Amino acid sequence: MDIRINEVKGVLKKYGQEHLLNHYETLDEEHQKELLDQIEKIDFDLVKRLYEDTKKESKYGQDKITPIEYLDKYKLYDDYKHYENIGKKAIKEGKLAAVTMAGGQGTRLGHNGPKGTYDIGLESHKSLFELLCDGLKEEGKKYDVTIPWFIMTSRENNKATIEFFEKHKYFGYQKDRNIFFFIQGELPMIDTEGKILIGEDGLIKQAADGHGGIYESLVKSGMTAKMKQMGIEWVFIGGVDNCLVKMVDPVLMGIAIDKGVTVACKSVVKANPQEKVGVFCKRNGKPNVIEYSEITEEMAEARDAEGELLYGESHILCNLFSVSAIERMGAEPLPYHVAYKKASYMDRDGKLIVPDSPNAYKFEAFLFDAFGEVDEMAVLRVKREEEFAPVKNADTVGVDCPKTARQLYKKFHNLD
Ligand code: UTP
Repeated sequence: MDIRINEVKGVLKKYGQEHLLNHYETLDEEHQKELLDQIEKIDFDLVKRLYEDTKKESKYGQDKITPIEYLDKYKLYDDYKHYENIGKKAIKEGKLAAVTMAGGQGTRLGHNGPKGTYDIGLESHKSLFELLCDGLKEEGKKYDVTIPWFIMTSRENNKATIEFFEKHKYFGYQKDRNIFFFIQGELPMIDTEGKILIGEDGLIKQAADGHGGIYESLVKSGMTAKMKQMGIEWVFIGGVDNCLVKMVDPVLMGIAIDKGVTVACKSVVKANPQEKVGVFCKRNGKPNVIEYSEITEEMAEARDAEGELLYGESHILCNLFSVSAIERMGAEPLPYHVAYKKASYMDRDGKLIVPDSPNAYKFEAFLFDAFGEVDEMAVLRVKREEEFAPVKNADTVGVDCPKTARQLYKKFHNLD
């Protein structure tokens, strides 16, 4: 143990993070070991670089942004059936799996527990997880297959998520046969001086590394290998908080296969040019998403000859990938975006500090930053009222909240 501690101390000294062992002696043996394990796993050069990046201006300033082509699902005419038939065949052959990203903290919603366990207030009181599972079961029936379901959790909510599934008997899905859980990566949180925070348990304060962590986690957890063993070639990746998400879509899949692209994404047209959503674009010639904060008013208003917004296709976290594209994306590190958040921590004297304003940096990768890995991808515009009812905020906010999601869900399923 002494040798190990000394080695750890040496690393901490090199990076100015010696305080991480301040409370080491007060921990029991198990936690001491856990803390050392955590420290040994930290990429201190990365943490140092991320801290330095917090002081830089946005690196996007010089990027060349241009519009991206898209197809409208309801203007495909004769091609609709053609794509649909190709997709149906692949689904029947068991080539499609679904992945739900459920590792987020859901801070805006403010629900105590994993977001997927949230009851949006339907008469059935079904949770988001159950609504998603209902969709998979219904689609699976159409093609006489069970769509394998992979669920990404975070270290923070993994236990609670699995307990919830246990309690609800996996909604009729079978654990380890057609439902699989895997845990996403995490990164330490740091203060404004670049010091890594210690949480109230005396361990490193870590936070999930964003939905962009999906590719690496799928590969590292062995899920892509499992998919290949199961004969899966295509993976739909979506969020846990869209209760109308259509994870099994033969038209989207048929387009990807027919056009020979390895990524195909769904979009909905912006409700108005000022809507605060990220939109599909090309960045330096490669597919990407531009955030609302990055887009100029002129770009947001610009229209093509048919009167359609040039940057009007919102990214709704409904994306289809080939397994090989996921593997390639998982091998390349993504940039991290910084968020300034409130985070409680233990100070040098062992006192718990609960801040009432942001005090710490959290780093997150975004799923769409990997899109540039491919030269071309397909974007398919679908109807908002059919496929997009997100639960982001509490009802008091009034948009993208349980109330709006419930209304959209009921309308689509004729429940009124
Ligand atoms: P959001 O960006 O809306 O984040 O995630 P969130 O955690 O749900 O909510 P806020 O921002 O804290 O209020 C979109 C989707 O990506 C997943 C979420 O679970 C959601 O399905 N996600 C996000 C992860 O799986 N891991 C992450 O680290 C972040």
